[in-house]
Amino acid sequence: MSTVWNGARRRIHMQEVGPRDGLQMESVFVPTDDKIAFVDALSRTGLAKIEVTAFVSPKAIPALRDAEDVMRGIARVPGVVHTALVPNVRGAERAIDAGTDELNLVMSATETHNLANLRMTREQSFAGLAEVASIAVDAGVAVNISLSCAFGCPMEGDVADLVVLRWCERYVELGASGSTLCDTTGMAYPGQVAALARTVRNRWPGTQLTMHFHDTRGLGLPNILAAIDAGVDRFDASVGGLGGCPYAPGASGNVCTETVVHALELMGYDTGVDLAALLDVSRRVPALVGHDVASPIVK
Ligand code: COA
Ligand code: ZN
Repeated sequence: MSTVWNGARRRIHMQEVGPRDGLQMESVFVPTDDKIAFVDALSRTGLAKIEVTAFVSPKAIPALRDAEDVMRGIARVPGVVHTALVPNVRGAERAIDAGTDELNLVMSATETHNLANLRMTREQSFAGLAEVASIAVDAGVAVNISLSCAFGCPMEGDVADLVVLRWCERYVELGASGSTLCDTTGMAYPGQVAALARTVRNRWPGTQLTMHFHDTRGLGLPNILAAIDAGVDRFDASVGGLGGCPYAPGASGNVCTETVVHALELMGYDTGVDLAALLDVSRRVPALVGHDVASPIVK
């Protein structure tokens, strides 16, 4: 697929997940004002969407126990969607009350991972998602549903495309405006990504499709390029490659936002992102989290 549509550069929407997927697993508590300044700086770089926080149990994820204060404290920038992860009805009520633009709901493609991560069967999770989705739809708040382990499961191994398609179909029926296919542990490879992306795009052309890759085996960027060729135009990424455990050698975070922006701009795509401004934010990430991060472009 060409980088140019109708004479204009093809638009690729970049969605930043560092403030949530990244900070949720940091051992230090990043002060609320620093989180707000971090999100505000990201909001000024031209990113399409930012996952600001998670309205989860403060016991489960103490690092994000200030979700309301962060969501209420950030400056809104026209054109930037401020989304948040929501695990249940309680989380949805908190998120809507704090003025969140979009609720990001999550479950796993495989039973074993869903039980391990959310302590529910997939059907129990789906019933919960349906309840949350109806609250959000009534409140006029957009819903995105993220499917973990869509490209493989660390516990069950391969995941059949048919399983993923069945869940996508049920999400569309719930009224979700978007769906994210997550490569939770970095098992996806380009041929697999392209095939699944083509099928999903063809079946649900009106649904926002996001792909979420981790860089565990160095295939984050190749997977994005394969997905773009197959018609996908939205990607999650984290500034500085935040995420992954600093204490677990080999564990890896999300694909790094500035790596993706740098590559796509060189290739002629329009990410809308000001790379210099993004690099400024990335340079300040080590001071925020208290350790070095894996940003090849900054280095
Ligand atoms: N916001 C605030 N508090 C919440 C909450 C929410 N969304 N959901 C549950 N709680 C609180 C309950 O009030 C309860 O508090 P108490 O012990 O003081 O009474 C406690 O958390 C346990 O609630 P319970 O309904 O029994 O839920 P649980 O223990 O089965 O937890 C989850 C289920 C999924 C809500 C919880 O484990 C969680 O938030 N996990 C985070 C998952 C996550 O973010 N993973 C990474 C990304 S996928
Ligand atoms: Zn992730």
